Amino acid sequence: MDLGLRGQRVLVVGATRGVGRAVARLLAEEGARVGLVARDGAALVRLAEELRGLGAEADWQAADVTDPTQATAAVRRLCAGGVDALVHVAGSGVRVPFAEATDEVWRASLELNLLAAVRVVRLALPHLRDGARVVLLGAASGKRPHLGQSPSNAAKAALANLAASLAEELAPRVLVNCVAPGRILTERRLARLQEAAARRGVPLAEAVAEDAEEIPLGRHGRPEEVAAVAVFFASPRAGYVTGQTVVVDGGWVRSV
Ligand SMILES: NC(=O)c1ccc[n+]([C@@H]2O[C@H](COP(=O)([O-])OP(=O)(O)OC[C@H]3O[C@@H](n4cnc5c(N)ncnc54)[C@H](OP(=O)(O)O)[C@@H]3O)[C@@H](O)[C@H]2O)c1
Repeated sequence: MDLGLRGQRVLVVGATRGVGRAVARLLAEEGARVGLVARDGAALVRLAEELRGLGAEADWQAADVTDPTQATAAVRRLCAGGVDALVHVAGSGVRVPFAEATDEVWRASLELNLLAAVRVVRLALPHLRDGARVVLLGAASGKRPHLGQSPSNAAKAALANLAASLAEELAPRVLVNCVAPGRILTERRLARLQEAAARRGVPLAEAVAEDAEEIPLGRHGRPEEVAAVAVFFASPRAGYVTGQTVVVDGGWVRSV
């Protein structure tokens, strides 16, 4: 199936690692013109070169999207002239028992996982072309909370609600959906599992297998498997779906 993304302009926020990097690569393979945002400028340069190597147009701007000034500058520059889709990927799980989670921890989680997305969508809004698609990266934990991760569980649930709220408010001009990954084996998760394995003195493979134990498909997801769903929702092919949160979690969330 041709996703119809050839020549379309797509902004990816949180593009240099994990799911965002897989999204950027897949968009490039589909012939989209990609705008890239993350904090690390050197990683953005490397990624833009990689995407150009795939024959895609790629532009970038380093910005911390929790900082309104930096977010404004990046979105204005990369969206000037109009964009067809926005994929907001930046976000992070927060592992801390509720009793130890200070206001500061909560504020940081809400800043990155909710307010940054609110800000980026609001800034991009005047540049979104008719029929544009917005894709927010939530988490399966927004539907089935992870133990000891209340600051990110709650923020990701709010993000799913934001997608539904905006879907109605921005219809019919802009479509908004949320993709909610389960446990995905990104560099970040692998590093964490490596640390845990070293701490417990067990092989990495054992720590990885334990982490995937509860997943009906019996393994972690790959960033590319989340990217495939996000890129579909960023494409004109998803033109009659809005306000939805779709989990990509190997069956971990058991709900109808
Ligand atoms: N991996 C999982 O298992 C999993 C599970 C559930 C949900 N998710 C969600 O899926 C999304 C992607 O996760 P991931 O694991 O692929 O993340 P990741 O590997 O940590 O990558 C995050 C990306 O966002 C950028 N970023 C982070 N903070 C930023 C900021 N303040 N401003 C601008 N860019 C920022 C990072 O680059 P810089 O550091 O250079 O800024 C990086 O490119 C997140 O929203 C996450 O919450 C992931």
